Amino acid sequence: MKNLYIKTYGCQMNEYDSSKIAALLSSSHGFLCINTPEKADLIILNTCSIREKAEEKLFSDLGRLRKLKIKNPFLVIGVGGCVAVQEKENIMKRAPCVDIIFGPETTHHLPQIYNDIIKNKSKIIDTSSAISAIEKFDHFPKPHSEGPIAYVSIMEGCNRFCSYCIVPYTRGREISRPVDDIIEEIKILASQNVIEINLLGQNVNDYLAKDRDGKIINLAFLVKIIAKIDGILRIRFTTSHPSAFSDELINVFATELKLATQIHLPVQSGSNNILAAMRRGYTREEYINKIEKLRQIRPDISVSSDFIVGFPNETDADFDETMSLIDEVKFDKSFSFIYSPRPFTSAAKLEDNISLSVKKARLKQLQDRLNFYALLISNKMVTTIQKVIVMNQSERNPKRLIARTENNKLVNFVGDEKLIGKLVHVNITKALPNSLIGVLIE
Ligand code: SAH
Ligand code: SF4
Ligand code: F3S
Repeated sequence: MKNLYIKTYGCQMNEYDSSKIAALLSSSHGFLCINTPEKADLIILNTCSIREKAEEKLFSDLGRLRKLKIKNPFLVIGVGGCVAVQEKENIMKRAPCVDIIFGPETTHHLPQIYNDIIKNKSKIIDTSSAISAIEKFDHFPKPHSEGPIAYVSIMEGCNRFCSYCIVPYTRGREISRPVDDIIEEIKILASQNVIEINLLGQNVNDYLAKDRDGKIINLAFLVKIIAKIDGILRIRFTTSHPSAFSDELINVFATELKLATQIHLPVQSGSNNILAAMRRGYTREEYINKIEKLRQIRPDISVSSDFIVGFPNETDADFDETMSLIDEVKFDKSFSFIYSPRPFTSAAKLEDNISLSVKKARLKQLQDRLNFYALLISNKMVTTIQKVIVMNQSERNPKRLIARTENNKLVNFVGDEKLIGKLVHVNITKALPNSLIGVLIE
């Protein structure tokens, strides 16, 4: 039996692709996944190029893997994901130990590529699919989930071209998977006792496809169809774009109670000047208006976001607008980043004129405020009863279980392992900075 080691960088789309790569190579070559690279016959690095740091991480990891290849000349190293599409053959020039370059569109070619490499011992670069970016889904083995929560990719790519973002250049244009394929995948997952579905895509609310009868289906409609599938108790989707967050989608939160009371809706900045320079396509006021509408329907909805600080020309006043937006919306646990100029993007032509010390100070101030509200929200949950999905036993204490709340927080409570995979009610007794403690309600 051959060993496969996969390291995944970046977003949930990459995590999804990696799980499919593992399943594909297991069925084609009997590869067994291992957790460290030392005993691997094939190493796959599924990379991310969203920020320069993510890209540099790849090359420092390749520097270490080179030594394994010296010890084992039969070791095959493949680089996939967004850096692979961005840099292509340059990766091999900089790191000659790499044998395969493939992209998110060509993950399904890997079994054939591996055969060719073993036979011919030459390097292979294959980053774009001849047919379409979603051709790969037809080649993935039947879905298999070990736990109660599963991820399902519904679309690939992005058409929005925010001025700072490399994704449209690495993942290509938006393309939605056929409705029937998605439903089929979810039905199989439900038959494996999956109860929560997370729909994935760079902009899930741009989802648009036709069903078997030619009827046009958008995300709002897709959620309604999924909510009817037996066994599925909770639905989420990520990431949504504020511009495409329509009233129709907001209203689904009123009618579909299986939709979690949680939304990740990245705002990036609270300043209209910066939002315009980022080419986000909405204003601060429009963003707030959508959150208000959502909160009229679900007053407790947990809203999380992504933020970028230090975009070119971001003034103190612009940054203060972001801080005041955080106070206004009271975001739950969110992600925040220092602006990083990326190749191909229009913002890369602007001078990166905010000093690193100012960027770092803004990031710290922003993260402290975000953590403050995330803890405030957790504290407010104390004494409430929460519907949670039990995922596994605690590694430190097998008498305790770990579960996920609707607003995506982890709860630790005493319970029997038979509850794993079930939706149960828990009374929250304590809030910690990164998790909650609770008591099971029988
Ligand atoms: N499609 C999603 C975001 C995907 S990328 C959306 O539009 O909301 C994930 C996050 O990475 C972005 O929300 C943004 O906050 C961050 N990001 C993207 N490009 C970046 C860059 N050049 N520098 C810093 N952060 C960046
Ligand atoms: Fe990037 Fe903007 Fe597309 Fe999100 S919407 S992936 S930030 S270009
Ligand atoms: Fe990174 Fe590509 Fe995802 S750049 S965030 S792996 S789409």
